[in-house]
Amino acid sequence: MTELIVGISELTTNSAELGTIRDAAVIIEGDEIAWVGSRQNAPAADTRTDLDGRAVLPGWVDSHTHLLFAGDRSDEFTRRMAGEDYEAGGIASTVAATSAATDAELRKRAYAARAEALASGTTSIEIKTGYALDVAGEARLARLARELTDDVTFLGAHVVPPGVNADSYVATVIGPMLDAVLPHARWIDVFCERGAFDEDQSRAILHAGSAVGLGVRVHGNQLGHGAGVALAVEFDAASVDHCNYLSNSDIDALASSQTVATLLPACDLSTRQPFAPARQLLDAGVTIALASNCNPGTSYTTSMSYCVSTAVLQMGLTIQEAVLAATLGGAKALRRDSGHGRIGLIEPGSRADLQALDAPSITHLAYRPGMLLTRNVWHAGQTIDSPNTKTIHLLPSKDET
Ligand code: NIG
Repeated sequence: MTELIVGISELTTNSAELGTIRDAAVIIEGDEIAWVGSRQNAPAADTRTDLDGRAVLPGWVDSHTHLLFAGDRSDEFTRRMAGEDYEAGGIASTVAATSAATDAELRKRAYAARAEALASGTTSIEIKTGYALDVAGEARLARLARELTDDVTFLGAHVVPPGVNADSYVATVIGPMLDAVLPHARWIDVFCERGAFDEDQSRAILHAGSAVGLGVRVHGNQLGHGAGVALAVEFDAASVDHCNYLSNSDIDALASSQTVATLLPACDLSTRQPFAPARQLLDAGVTIALASNCNPGTSYTTSMSYCVSTAVLQMGLTIQEAVLAATLGGAKALRRDSGHGRIGLIEPGSRADLQALDAPSITHLAYRPGMLLTRNVWHAGQTIDSPNTKTIHLLPSKDET
């Protein structure tokens, strides 16, 4: 079955060969893109969708979330907005609430968040564990996360649980906890930060994970300068996330590595940290990704378009750079940007993950900040209803013109 999509005012493909195409058309066959080009050259297909002049771009690739949790930390947020600093220790309150929740309660909330994200254009998502911090609980979170994504990250090393000796906790993480989580996980991660895990502990955790075949990711340099970036590069991590405090040697190390710097603007705003130096990273040749970091402590949003508009309006990126970082950048941070089923771009052979905006160009994502512009979403070739689809019709239909 093939679907021809026409009426595309501007098609952002992220493909080096195809670039941006005006008055474009796309053909989807099954779960893949079969053809991309200008409308006048489009071959016939079984069905036809006319977008009446909307911009189309790849679906968002949200490569950093902590989507599985219970509880609410709005009081902590209120205190922060009144001047308190963010402390890694706040994680413990979500651990308590999550551990007390049933599978059904966790599922209900996580599935709702995934649906919300998908409707706003997020076609790929990574989900971390890290709100249980005991063997059975981390395995449960990994199992539930695996229902929602292939990109499950084991983050048993989120913080040391209160009252537990740090070295014995690290031994648990790299021993029975890793064994219990392994069937469900693709990645291992560590929060390498003051108040969480130091350099030696982080190295031991990453070493254990990579020794059993997990890909490496690191939370690093979020609350101050530290070893996170250097460790990530040492382990050829797919991504080092946060990157608010970087030295010149951190930036040089990233620029000469395959490690993506994943930036989390919604978290930077919610924790009142300085923004990660996005412009400096790009100018140095570092590959960057933008992600939501959806979690109840530091970034309670699934909105990738909010991250994109913030990156443009406050971090010095162009709209093209920000969209690239939130799509192909995220795919690179998950090492899913090449081969069969590749994501983050629109070209023959890539997975058919697309979104159409209720706007003629991607510029509107920053020009109209805060608006839900995503109107149509295709996930692996299947059409997803967006809230916009049913309620908002900014462009007159053909019958009215
Ligand atoms: O990515 N930095 C560590 N983990 C989360 C925060 C989690 C929390 O405070 O609950 C983050 O910001």
